[in-house]
Amino acid sequence: MKLLDGKACSESILQELTDQTRELTAAGKRSPHLVAILVGENPASETYVASKQANCEKVGFRSTLIRYASDVTSEVLLAKLQELNQDPEVDGILVQLPLPKQLSETLVIETISPEKDVDGFHPVNIGRMSKNIPAFLPATPGGILQLLSRNDIETAGKHCVVLGRSNIVGMPMAILMARNTNPGNATVTICHSRTADLKAMTLQADILIAAVGKPLMVTADMVKSGAVVVDVGIHRVADDTKPKGYRIVGDVDFDAVAPIASAITPVPGGVGPMTIAQLLLNTMEAYLRK
Ligand code: GUN
Repeated sequence: MKLLDGKACSESILQELTDQTRELTAAGKRSPHLVAILVGENPASETYVASKQANCEKVGFRSTLIRYASDVTSEVLLAKLQELNQDPEVDGILVQLPLPKQLSETLVIETISPEKDVDGFHPVNIGRMSKNIPAFLPATPGGILQLLSRNDIETAGKHCVVLGRSNIVGMPMAILMARNTNPGNATVTICHSRTADLKAMTLQADILIAAVGKPLMVTADMVKSGAVVVDVGIHRVADDTKPKGYRIVGDVDFDAVAPIASAITPVPGGVGPMTIAQLLLNTMEAYLRK
């Protein structure tokens, strides 16, 4: 079994970006600039945004955090996005999701200029991705493609089963794996809450990508021998044997599935770091496109 080490893989991408940024600044150019917007005080969002910012700084990018209280109006947020769209010194804009109820995620995402939508959530980028023309890839699926290709995992002709059909992971992941390119060219099945016989599907997977959001739901009896298993889930489960009283697990029962798999991502240290690497790759691309 090969461990698909997202931490190590993301480190090498961050090193490439650091070198690239150093060359740009040595040539007298400004560095790429990512602006993150955080609304309210969701603890998970706080952690994700802090990590995005820390990694920007690590590679030499400029990063700006704009915070709003949870009762911010749509008018105020959309006006700020329009201002950032026009700002020539801003390359990438991301609004951390989820948003409070008074704000429409659809409207917020569609207000970000597609040229600065480094999350790859704007319908223009989703459409471009689907047509296999240059686009910002959503960070998690894009990061998984990087992880697969940098570990020489063959996808062409394989049966890829994606568990979950969310806008930000499952659905774009399925599209990317089916595209006529490399990585891609897989035969793809999307499973979701209405799938009749999940295990019958997962047992056919050469590549199984779990993005359901249910702790430890993929068990050993659901995985074909030699499958490549990618775990997008990240959950805290109570564990009295740990000093903190919890441990971090994914959607996959790693200990039981790892011996059957030919390759598998750990949680933590698998997909998570790759998501940030892809966001930074997108930010560099947004900068270079200008
Ligand atoms: N919330 C969960 N994942 C993401 C992500 O990749 N980007 C943003 N903006 N919000 C998220």
